[in-house]
Amino acid sequence: MSPARPALVIAEDSHIPLFDLHRQRARLGSELHKRMDAVLAHGQFILGPEVEELEQRLARLVGVGHAVAVSSGRDALMIALMAMGVKPGDAVFVPAFTFAATAGAVAAIEAVPVFVDVDPATFNMDAADLERAIAETEAAGRARPRVVMPVDLYGLPADYLAIAAVASRRGLQVLADAAQSFGGRRGDIRVGALAPITATSFYPTKPLGCYGDGGAVFAEDDGLAAVVHMMRSHGRAGTGDEAIVLGLTGRLDTLQAAVLLAKLDVFTDELERRRAIAARYNAALASIVSVPSVPAGYDSAYALYTVRVAHRDAIRQRLNGAGIGTGLFYRLALHQHPAFKRFDGRRLPVSERLAGEVLSLPLHADLTDDEVERVIEAVTNAVG
Ligand SMILES: Cc1ncc(COP(=O)(O)O)c(C=O)c1O
Repeated sequence: MSPARPALVIAEDSHIPLFDLHRQRARLGSELHKRMDAVLAHGQFILGPEVEELEQRLARLVGVGHAVAVSSGRDALMIALMAMGVKPGDAVFVPAFTFAATAGAVAAIEAVPVFVDVDPATFNMDAADLERAIAETEAAGRARPRVVMPVDLYGLPADYLAIAAVASRRGLQVLADAAQSFGGRRGDIRVGALAPITATSFYPTKPLGCYGDGGAVFAEDDGLAAVVHMMRSHGRAGTGDEAIVLGLTGRLDTLQAAVLLAKLDVFTDELERRRAIAARYNAALASIVSVPSVPAGYDSAYALYTVRVAHRDAIRQRLNGAGIGTGLFYRLALHQHPAFKRFDGRRLPVSERLAGEVLSLPLHADLTDDEVERVIEAVTNAVG
């Protein structure tokens, strides 16, 4: 056992949580209440004017033809897969190291998630292993390869150039699971425009989060966006009563759109603050833990700031004792979850290793400089 480290002496109330939505709410102040009160006054709780205003602002910000606001990130993925024509028995290639919803959306429509290993530096889908996974799936003949669904883990866009090259050689479509990366970029191209169709999440702790569940689908293609519109609202076109396609109750609530509109006003400043904190962490921690690697030309939205470290669980316990909130995203690779074991079968050594090494540290726009330094000091002491 390693020797006990001196605990940092800090008061109870100086705990630094992994996320802190209270400070953001206080900072947004009356603007948030004005937006929400307007919805309560006009009473159009389903597809009220705030939803369309939000969609227009999101599409403009991203630089893409269409943004469709939906009920969650997972529903955004499911609706996108359905709109792309994915059928039961079709294979959808997903990274093995991600949140359960990535594969859950695939399995929910009876398609088959095929797990692909990830790159140990970026945590994102490894294009070389994707190529192998497609070849193995074709050879086995049990599922028809249809879609590649990379995830932008922790906010860093996946390598869509390499992935699109593999996908187009094999005749597959690409759907981006950008649940964690809204606000990320490659060069001038923003998340939402890096793939033909993209799903994001507005879960409260995401870089752009509402006060409940929410998400969006982005697409350039008019036809695809029209199908997504129908699918989020029982398969109907506009206000018509005819179900044209199979759909779901998949709309973003008007109240959540109002929250997001208030938050969009400060989103760019918040992203800058997240990136500045990440840069400070990188500079201070690179010599003692493995810090996140962002390839040249990319900007992460830093949904999470995640390091890799040996003896992760012991270090986490020490940080907890020092009042520093941490998170494990993810303690299991997808094929290690009971729900997804039946889709197991490939070697996924990097994903399995990462699951034992990753540790997320506090990072949000309202973290003070003093708190950032305290996190750095605590990590330095904990690693020793
Ligand atoms: C990679 C990834 N995909 C999908 C989702 C699902 O999003 P939601 O929680 O909004 O359904 C999440 C949410 O955390 C996620 O991290």
